[in-house]
Amino acid sequence: MAVLLGIDVGTSGTKTVAIDQRGRVLADATSFYPSYHPRPLWSEQDPEDWWKATIETVRRVMAKGRIKKTDVRAIGLSGQMHGSVFLDARDRVIRRAILWNDQRTAAECREIEKRAGGRKKLIRRVANPAMSGFTAPKILWLRNHEPRHFARVRKVLLPKDEIRRRLIHDYATDLSDASGTLLLDVARRRWSKPLLSALEIDAELLPRCHESVEVTGQLTTEAAQLLGLSTDCLVVAGAGDCAAGAVGNGIVRRGKLWASIGTSGVMFVHSDKPAVDPLGRLHTFCHAVPGKWHMMGVSLSAGGSLQWFRNQLCKSDAATAEAKRKDIYDLLADEAKAVAPGSEGLFFLPYLAGERTPHADPDARGAFIGLTLAHTRGHMVRAIMEGVAFALRDSLEIFRELGVPVREIRASGGGARSPLWRQIQADMFGQKVVTLRCEEGAAFGAALLAAVGAGVFDSIEEACDATIRVASTTRVRSRARKRYDQSMPLYQQLYRSLKDDFKQIAALEAK
Ligand code: XUL
Repeated sequence: MAVLLGIDVGTSGTKTVAIDQRGRVLADATSFYPSYHPRPLWSEQDPEDWWKATIETVRRVMAKGRIKKTDVRAIGLSGQMHGSVFLDARDRVIRRAILWNDQRTAAECREIEKRAGGRKKLIRRVANPAMSGFTAPKILWLRNHEPRHFARVRKVLLPKDEIRRRLIHDYATDLSDASGTLLLDVARRRWSKPLLSALEIDAELLPRCHESVEVTGQLTTEAAQLLGLSTDCLVVAGAGDCAAGAVGNGIVRRGKLWASIGTSGVMFVHSDKPAVDPLGRLHTFCHAVPGKWHMMGVSLSAGGSLQWFRNQLCKSDAATAEAKRKDIYDLLADEAKAVAPGSEGLFFLPYLAGERTPHADPDARGAFIGLTLAHTRGHMVRAIMEGVAFALRDSLEIFRELGVPVREIRASGGGARSPLWRQIQADMFGQKVVTLRCEEGAAFGAALLAAVGAGVFDSIEEACDATIRVASTTRVRSRARKRYDQSMPLYQQLYRSLKDDFKQIAALEAK
């Protein structure tokens, strides 16, 4: 039997999944770790936690699935994108990794645009404008703010590539994840020498780039021992969690859109060409499918908004629910279900960590707008679910504006598991939403990439066709759809009205 492992180094935890050569899930395991927020807008993690979680989840999966180590042909890696791991000459981690949802680099984004000769020229070179979560601004931030740390840096790796380094003792990345550094010539699929030189970043700091299905190496003796695997096990390049998740959801041809609500929210379409939004609202990145691209919009706090609400405002209920073996999210959804679409005029702006698409505004803040004495907790929960769906619709409207075909919407993540949130998405998007049988997402996609890399399938398309099946369809309810169509312009107007106030709040906080 051939077994393939997919390891997804996520933000809340690392998930490992084992599949067989027919794509059946044999076992999965997740191990969680903390994020650190030492200052407002900062978000960091300790790469050592990712490594411990990798070892633990691989071992648990092997035991749970009773998998023989000689059966494991290959590992595919996936992970949270954009995060920067700074390594010194002896491969020691210099400081905690700065994550994708960290917003400290507004000034460095301006510096990059200036050094690149303006926003338009930057977009021409790397297909994207400077976004505060991307990697290049983090490198400049380290140079500007922690010069002593910067002087020791010899390599900068993305989260999953730091795990690869520990697996194969080599520095490599894949093109989808490399796209999110802002240092890749996305159209030509190679590092952008002109931009590196404009930013005075030494190309030697960066790892080698691969297509996602290419083999990057084999496990070292030490890694094989720690993981309980064989040194024959290949490590395939893999992909950033968005591209890997898209593969896991079969978004490998034109016409399909993937709507994912995890910590962040992602609206993702496949593209045969490196098509670019001239206004730079959407990202254009290399896809995990060799020689293809994708466009996506990202909302920074999607599931993260509801998680924040649960953690900060429902702590005691969560404990009671747990004691009764109930899920607090189910209880909250029941309360929200009793509320009509539109939450009786209550809006939620889900900008708890600033926002990327379409505003690219690190200063944007979360807000409930329209509260009255009649509103209950159920209204607030529903408004959060709707606010996240409004934010995703912002991306969908840009796809429509650019003429990108969207024939099928596939939903996944926490937002797809909740029947209420699924319904809100179908009504908000005005198109039916389907879910898939396998819900393992990016880890599953990474395992499929490993399967292609190990020669189990000839192509990613073949792997997806053989393994991915639709499980449910949620149809549009016309009354709710009408209500959301009416509310959308108001939702968009609220950000425009508050934008300058958000800037003032940020200035006040900076004092
Ligand atoms: C994508 C992005 C997020 C992270 C989350 O651009 O920033 O989706 O990859 O893990």
